[in-house]
Amino acid sequence: MEVNYQFPQGFWWGSATSATQIEGAANEDGKAKNIWDHWYEQEPHRFFDNVGPSKTSDFYHTYKDDIQLMKEIGHNTFRISLSWSRLMPQGELNQQAVTFYNSVIDELIANDIEPFVNLFHFDMPFDLQKQGGWESREVVDKYVDYAATCFRLFGDRVTKWFTFNEPIVPVEGGYLYDFHYPNIVDAKKAVQVAYHTMIAHAKAVQAFRQFDFTHSKIGIILNLTPSYPRSNNPADLRASRIADLFFNRSFLDPAVLGEYPEELIAILKEHGQLPSTFEGDKELLKRNTIDLLGVNYYQPRRVKAKEHLPNPYAPFMPDWFFDNYEMPGRKMNKYRGWEIYEKGIYDILINLKENYGNIASFISENGMGVQDEERFIENGEIQDDYRIEFIRDHLKWVHQAIQEDCNVKGYHLWAFMDNWSWMNAYKNRYGFYSVNLKTMKRTPKKSAHWIKSVAEHNGF
Ligand code: BG6
Repeated sequence: MEVNYQFPQGFWWGSATSATQIEGAANEDGKAKNIWDHWYEQEPHRFFDNVGPSKTSDFYHTYKDDIQLMKEIGHNTFRISLSWSRLMPQGELNQQAVTFYNSVIDELIANDIEPFVNLFHFDMPFDLQKQGGWESREVVDKYVDYAATCFRLFGDRVTKWFTFNEPIVPVEGGYLYDFHYPNIVDAKKAVQVAYHTMIAHAKAVQAFRQFDFTHSKIGIILNLTPSYPRSNNPADLRASRIADLFFNRSFLDPAVLGEYPEELIAILKEHGQLPSTFEGDKELLKRNTIDLLGVNYYQPRRVKAKEHLPNPYAPFMPDWFFDNYEMPGRKMNKYRGWEIYEKGIYDILINLKENYGNIASFISENGMGVQDEERFIENGEIQDDYRIEFIRDHLKWVHQAIQEDCNVKGYHLWAFMDNWSWMNAYKNRYGFYSVNLKTMKRTPKKSAHWIKSVAEHNGF
C-alpha cells in the first residue's frame, strides 16, 4: 500500500474512554455513588431516554475481551480513567477496586497496549460533593490524597498520567449552564471551582514528582476550542480574545506556563470575580507545570462582539463579552449538530508550538458523534464512511503540524466503543465498535478496519 501520510515512528494510535461512561457496575463491589448516580436517582427525566449510568458498556465485566478487540485494531495505547468513588469510597481504599484496576492495567500491558490513566473525568464522589465538591479547599486536599494513592498503587507500571479531563466542563455544566450536578448558576462559584481544580492539579503534579518515576510523564487533558472572530474589526477581535481567555487559557496557561494570563485576572478583578486564594498558590502553580498535554478537539468556537449590552443588574456571566457566531456556510456534522473544522486541530498545535514552548502533546480526543447510527448498517456492519473521512481529514492536519515541527505524539479517537455520555446517555455514538445495549455485544464498524490498517502502516 502506498502511504502518503506517514507518521513518526512510535506514534500513539488508540482511543479514549472514562470510568463512569464504560465500566457500569455502578453499585457493585463496594463502589460508592458519584454525582451522576445521585443526579440520575433524583431527576432521571433529564437524561436522554431516561437512561442512567448504572450499566453503561459493562467494561467492569468485559475488559479482557475488550482489550482483545483493541489489540485486534492495532491500538498501542488506550486511555482509561479511574473512578475515585470505586477506589476510595468514603475515603478508605477498596481492595476490590484495586484488584480490578491492577488487572485492567496488567492485561493492557500484557497485550502491548500502554495504559494512559486519567484520575478525574467529571465523576466527583457524591459524599465529597455534599462537602462542597470543588468549591471546597478541603476536597482539593482529599483529591491530592487520592491522586498520591493512585501513583503509589499503579505508578510502577503506568507511565502516562493525567490529573483531569476537560476541567472546564464541570465548571460550565455545574456552575454556569446547568448540565452537570450540582446545577448551580453562579459565576463567582464557577471561578472558584475552576481555580480549585487547577490548584488540585498542581498539587497532584507536585505529589507525583515526589515519587521516583524517572521515565513517567504527567499532564492534563484540555478541550481546546480555537476561538475565531467573525471579522478583524477591533470589537470582534476583543470578543474572540476574551472567549479564548475564559475557555482555553484559564486552564492552558496555568498548566503549561504556571501562571494565569494578566488580562484574565484584570477582567475578573474589574467585575469583582476573583477567587479566594492561599498564600503560596502562585509558587505552587509556577513550580508544577506539566510534561505532556492531552488535546481534545471537536469543534471551534466562532465569536462576534456582543450585539446587546448586558443588563448591568444581571449577575456576571462570561458571555457578557461575546456572542457565539453562526458563520454562514460552515461545515456541520449533521448527525450531531457540531461544526466540523479540521484545520482547527492544526491551529491548536501551532499555537502550542509558538506560545507554549512546543510542549509535548497528543490528540487525546477527537471524534464524530452520530445519532441513530443503526440506520447505516449494511451486511451487519455500520458503514461509517463519514467517521473515516472525519478522522482522515483531521489526521492530515496533524501530519502537516508534524512537518512544521509541532511536538505531537499520538492520536486517540473518542471513543473505543459506543458509550454512555452524561445527559446525552446513548444518543450520540462515537465508537470504533458498536455496542448492542440489550446483549452488550460489540461489533466492529467499518472505521475499526480502517484504523487497523492506519496503525499497521503508521499512516495512510
Ligand atoms: C467529550 C467528553 O468532550 O465529549 C466525553 O470528554 C463525552 O466524556 C464526549 O462523552 C461526547 O459528548 P456527547 O454529548 O456528544 O455525547
